[in-house]
Amino acid sequence: MARLVLCVLALAASGLADPAHKVLPQKQADNALLQKQLDLSTLFYHVHEPLHVPELVAIADSWDVEKNIDHYSNITAVKVFGELYEYGLLYRNMPFHVLDRYHGFEAQTLYNVLWSAKDYDTFYKTAVWFRQHVNEYLFVYVYSTAILHRPDTQGVVIPPIYEIFPEFFTNSEVLTTAQRVNVHGLRMVEHYPTTYVWENNVVVKENMTIWPYYYNDEVKVNYFTWDQGLNAFYYNWHLAYPKWLGGDVTPLVKDRRGEWFWYIHKQLLTRYYMERLSNGLGEIPELSWSAPIKTGIWSGLQYYKGIFFPTRPNNFVLNQDYFVNEIIRIQDFERRVREAIDLGYVINNVGEHINIHTPEAIDILGRVIECNVDSPNSKFYGDFITLWKGLLGNSLEHTEYNQLYHGHIPEILPSVLEHYQTALRDPAFYLIWKRVLNIFKMWQESLPMYKLEELAYPTVSIKNVEVDKLVTYFENTYMNITNQLHMTEHEAKRFEDDVSVLVQRPRLNHKVFQVRVKVNSEAAKTVVVRFFLAPKYDSLGNEIPLKENWENFFQLDQFTYDLVQGENVIKRDSTQNLWTVDDWTTAHEFYAKSESALHGKGSVIVDQSQRFDGYPQRLLLPKGRVGGMPFVFVVYISEYRAPKVPFGQGFDPAMSLGFGSGARFLTDDPLGFPLNKPVYDWQIQHLKNFWVQDVTIYHKHTPEIYLPHLE
Ligand SMILES: *[C@@H]1O[C@H](CO)[C@@H](O)[C@H](O)[C@H]1NC(C)=O
Ligand SMILES: *[C@@H]1O[C@H](CO)[C@@H](O)[C@H](O)[C@H]1NC(C)=O
Ligand SMILES: *[C@@H]1O[C@H](CO)[C@@H](O)[C@H](O)[C@H]1NC(C)=O
Repeated sequence: MARLVLCVLALAASGLADPAHKVLPQKQADNALLQKQLDLSTLFYHVHEPLHVPELVAIADSWDVEKNIDHYSNITAVKVFGELYEYGLLYRNMPFHVLDRYHGFEAQTLYNVLWSAKDYDTFYKTAVWFRQHVNEYLFVYVYSTAILHRPDTQGVVIPPIYEIFPEFFTNSEVLTTAQRVNVHGLRMVEHYPTTYVWENNVVVKENMTIWPYYYNDEVKVNYFTWDQGLNAFYYNWHLAYPKWLGGDVTPLVKDRRGEWFWYIHKQLLTRYYMERLSNGLGEIPELSWSAPIKTGIWSGLQYYKGIFFPTRPNNFVLNQDYFVNEIIRIQDFERRVREAIDLGYVINNVGEHINIHTPEAIDILGRVIECNVDSPNSKFYGDFITLWKGLLGNSLEHTEYNQLYHGHIPEILPSVLEHYQTALRDPAFYLIWKRVLNIFKMWQESLPMYKLEELAYPTVSIKNVEVDKLVTYFENTYMNITNQLHMTEHEAKRFEDDVSVLVQRPRLNHKVFQVRVKVNSEAAKTVVVRFFLAPKYDSLGNEIPLKENWENFFQLDQFTYDLVQGENVIKRDSTQNLWTVDDWTTAHEFYAKSESALHGKGSVIVDQSQRFDGYPQRLLLPKGRVGGMPFVFVVYISEYRAPKVPFGQGFDPAMSLGFGSGARFLTDDPLGFPLNKPVYDWQIQHLKNFWVQDVTIYHKHTPEIYLPHLE
C-alpha cells in the first residue's frame, strides 16, 4: 500500500547497517510553506461560524469569482458556479450529503473552481470567499480535497476531521454538556458528574460502553468502530480518491484506484471480524432481502443545526413496498456485475467488451463496483453501494418526499452510513461490505489459481519466526472539541478560545512488538517481506481451514529488505510500519508550531510521518482476550519486482503523497499478494518462503477503564 511506497526510498539508501530501517524523506518547511499552513488552516477554525477576523472578512466581501474569471482555467466551472450562486447554494448549517446528486454536483462545481484557480493567491481568496458564503460541510469537503490535489498546496497539513467537526465523532449528550461548560466556564464543572478540570481544559468523560438509550450486542466493539483515528482514516482515503474525481485531469486511475478500493475495504472487514471474535460476537451476518437486519443503530449524533441523525431500529425489515424501487435497482446492478464476472468481460459505455478474466482486472472491477468516474460504464453497472446505504441508513424517507429549499436543493438528513467519517460505526456497513466482497470473491475464484512457481522463491528459505508477546490494552484519549463550541463575543473578537473542552474516551492500543525472521538466502537479493494476521477459530470455535481463511487475512506490514547471501535475521518493529501513523498532530499544536517557526523559533519538519492516508498504528492488533486468544500469523517473502513507474517520480515524497502520479508503489505485485486469491494448503506446504505460525494476543486490563470483555 502506501507503505509500500516509502520503502522504495530505502532501496536507494541500502547499505545502512540495518536494512529494514527505512529513512523517511524529510524537509524543513520554508517560510512560504509556513505562511500557507497558517493561512489555510485558519479557515477550518470554528467553521460553523462566520469569519471573525477583519482582514478575512474584507477578502470575503471584496473578492468576486465571476469578475475574475480570467484567473481560473475552468471557465465552465466558474460560469456554472455563477448560475448556482444566483439560484441559491446549499445554505449554511444544512446537512450536506456528498452522495446525493444535487449536493454532489454543487460540490464538484465548487471544487473545479478552487482547483482551477491559476495561482495560489486566487485559490486562497476563492477559499476565503467560500468559507464565508458556502455551506460549511460542503466547504470543508471541497477545500480539503483541493488542498490535497493542488500542486501548490502540497506539504500543507489539513487538521484532522474530528477536530474540524466534532459533532460527527461524539454524541449529543457529551456535546450538550460541553456547550454548557462553554457558557458557564469553569464555574459549574463540579456540578456535572462527567466533567473535571485538567490544566486549563475541561474534560468531559464519554462512556462509550453504555449508551443507555439503546442496546444491541454490537456496542461491545464500539471502541473500535467509533475510534476517531479509524474513522478519520476512512474519510481521508475518500478525500484522496473521491469517486467523482478522476479522468484525464486528475488521473487517479494511475494509482490503481479500483484495486485500492477493494483492498482498503478488505483490510477493514478482516480487521473488524477479528475484533468481533475477540468479543465473542458471532459471524458477520449475511445481508439479504428476506431476513430482517438484526442490529440497528442509534448513534446519538446530532447535526449542528440541531437535528438528530436518522436511526434504524433492531430487526429492521427490508421487505417493504416502500423500498421496492431501490431493491429493484440494487438487484439489477448487482446481477449485471455478477454476469460480467461469469462472462469474463464488462461492457463499456460504447458497447465494447473489456476482458476482466485477468488478475490485473481487479482494478477495473473495483472501479465498476465503486461506480466512480473512471468506471467503464457507471450507468449500466450502477452505484448499488450507495443505494444500499440509503436503505440501511433508513434515511430514504427523507430523500423521497423531502422539502426542496429554494425549489431545487433537497433538504436531506444523511444517516451515519452515508458519511465517510461516520460510516464505520454502523454494523450495517460491514453487512454491505461482506456482500460486496463476496462479489469480488466470486471473481477471484473464477481466475486460475496461483501456480506453484508464482508463489515459490526457491533461493530463499525462512528458518524460524519469533514474535514478541502481543499485548493489547485500553488507554484514554483526549479529543479537542473546542472548535464545535459557540464563541462568545469576547472570544470572537480575539479569535481565540477562552474555554478549551476535551472529550475523554477509551481506545485500543498495543505494546510495541518486534518480529524476527530468520532467513537463508542463496544470494544477495532485495526481497519483499509481508506479514499477515488472521483468526484461527471462527465464532463457533472451529478451526478455519486455509482454503476459507485466505479471505480473512489482514495485512499487517510490508517492506523491502536487502538480504545478504547466507543467514539473515530480519528484525521488524511494529512502529516501523510505514502504512500506519501515530495520532495526527492536533490542529492547535500544529498551528502554534508553524507560527513559532515562522517567527524564527524552532522549525517544522515535513515528512510523511503524519501521512494523511495513514492507518492508525494503535489498531494493528485486535483486542484478543485476557487469557490469550490464538491467531494465525503468516510471513511471506517474495522476489522484489520493480513497479512500472519508479516510486516518487513526478512528485516530492517529503511534501506530497503523489495522488494521481502512478508512482506510489513499492512493487508491481498485486495488493495483498499472495492472499488476494484463494490459497490452499497443498499450494503452500512445500514453500520455504511462506511461513505459518500460531500467535496469541493477550488483553491486559487497565484498572481505571471500564469496558466489557471476555477473559
Ligand atoms: C470544468 O468544470 C466543469 C463544471 O464543473 C466540469 O464539468 C469539467 O469537467 C471541468 N473541466 C476540467 C478540465 O476540470
Ligand atoms: C461507564 O458506565 C459503566 C456502567 O454504568 C460504569 O461502570 C463505568 O464506570 C462508566 N465509565 C465511565 C468512564 O464513566
Ligand atoms: C483545543 O483547541 C483550542 C482551539 O480550538 C485551543 O484553544 C486549546 O488550547 C486546545 N486544547 C489543547 C489541550 O490543546
